[in-house]
Amino acid sequence: MKLKLSDYTIEFGPSQKILAEYLETSDYSSINVLVDENTKEFCLPIISNTFDEYNVITIPSGEENKTLATCEKIWGVLQNSRVDRHALLVNLGGGVIGDMGGFVASTYMRGIQFVQIPTTLLSQVDASVGGKLGVDFNGYKNFIGLFNNPKIVIIDSEFFKTLPTNELESGYAEMIKHALIRDEKSWKSYLTNSNWERNLSNSNLLKSVNIKREVVIEDPFEIGIRKILNFGHTLGHAIETYSFSTPKPLLHGYAIALGIVGEAYISHQLLGLGHEDLEAIKKYIQGIYKMDTGHLTDIISIMDHMRYDKKNRKNKILFSLLEGVGKCTFDVEASEELIRESLEYTLNV
Ligand SMILES: NC(=O)c1ccc[n+]([C@@H]2O[C@H](COP(=O)([O-])OP(=O)(O)OC[C@H]3O[C@@H](n4cnc5c(N)ncnc54)[C@H](O)[C@@H]3O)[C@@H](O)[C@H]2O)c1
Ligand SMILES: [Zn+2]
Repeated sequence: MKLKLSDYTIEFGPSQKILAEYLETSDYSSINVLVDENTKEFCLPIISNTFDEYNVITIPSGEENKTLATCEKIWGVLQNSRVDRHALLVNLGGGVIGDMGGFVASTYMRGIQFVQIPTTLLSQVDASVGGKLGVDFNGYKNFIGLFNNPKIVIIDSEFFKTLPTNELESGYAEMIKHALIRDEKSWKSYLTNSNWERNLSNSNLLKSVNIKREVVIEDPFEIGIRKILNFGHTLGHAIETYSFSTPKPLLHGYAIALGIVGEAYISHQLLGLGHEDLEAIKKYIQGIYKMDTGHLTDIISIMDHMRYDKKNRKNKILFSLLEGVGKCTFDVEASEELIRESLEYTLNV
């Protein structure tokens, strides 16, 4: 199964086989694989038989290492190994490896080619598609970077076998988001499947990735429609950032799951999303994300984080909201009072 974009394809299935087929059609001077300590242990063995000879570059895992300092180390290893302009970088890992590895490849000697093999659910259905690459800088996320595309993205659910459950749940929030903004049929099928992990079939992954694909093809640089991918993220980011100042920081997808419930509430109030749909969204999310939100009740601080969101225009807090399930619109302003109410609704305060 594959999806096509203008200059690359996204293939679904056994990564070793797909990678071997791709390498047969190409002639790289060297193969370099970027991993972190977890993907080196759990994911590299799944693809390593593909290569006769290859260099492994290992970096420490975690968002705190998604920095220019780590890029310098990777550029340094490539330079010391005399890697030339005709080499390939294979990024094997989650969104941190994919974003940073893509950035390193795109800038090393003005750009070498790279392949994305995302190994978390979040990076498979979200980070690996759309061309955004980069690193964090001075505490700001994804502040330095560029748009560029890999030669191929390989999506293999085999990697989920070793992925911690909370990481899997975190990625699933983006699948829920994709269904709610543009795919009512998938949303209905998710609702009827009592075991959500069964929704992670290749065909469902493809449907979810395809929603991001269609949206980024229409609007690659986020001038308009691409903003619908931010559904759940105005409230979600603010909750996520606030949670970092508490003893229990949230994984991205957990915060987005809360953001989806809150923004569904605003959608109901402003755009007429049905009350039954709103309740179904809340119930579904609460059934999966068993979160104690007791430490997140400082609504004033969450509101402060939202005022500084880089998506705001002229001091207005803007949302991407649902007119109905599968129908999302963007740049909708909500009053502070309604935002506060929506936080109370999602955080049960
Ligand atoms: N470029 C984009 O459009 C885009 C979109 C969304 C998110 N992102 C970025 O993605 C990043 C988050 O990605 P993430 O959630 O994948 O986090 P991550 O890359 O930090 O991976 C999460 C953890 O899982 C481990 N891991 C990865 N695959 C594994 C496997 N198969 N088995 C066991 N452990 C495994 C990693 O070592 C890490 O500890 C953020 O930096 C975010 O900015 C980018
Ligand atoms: Zn997200």
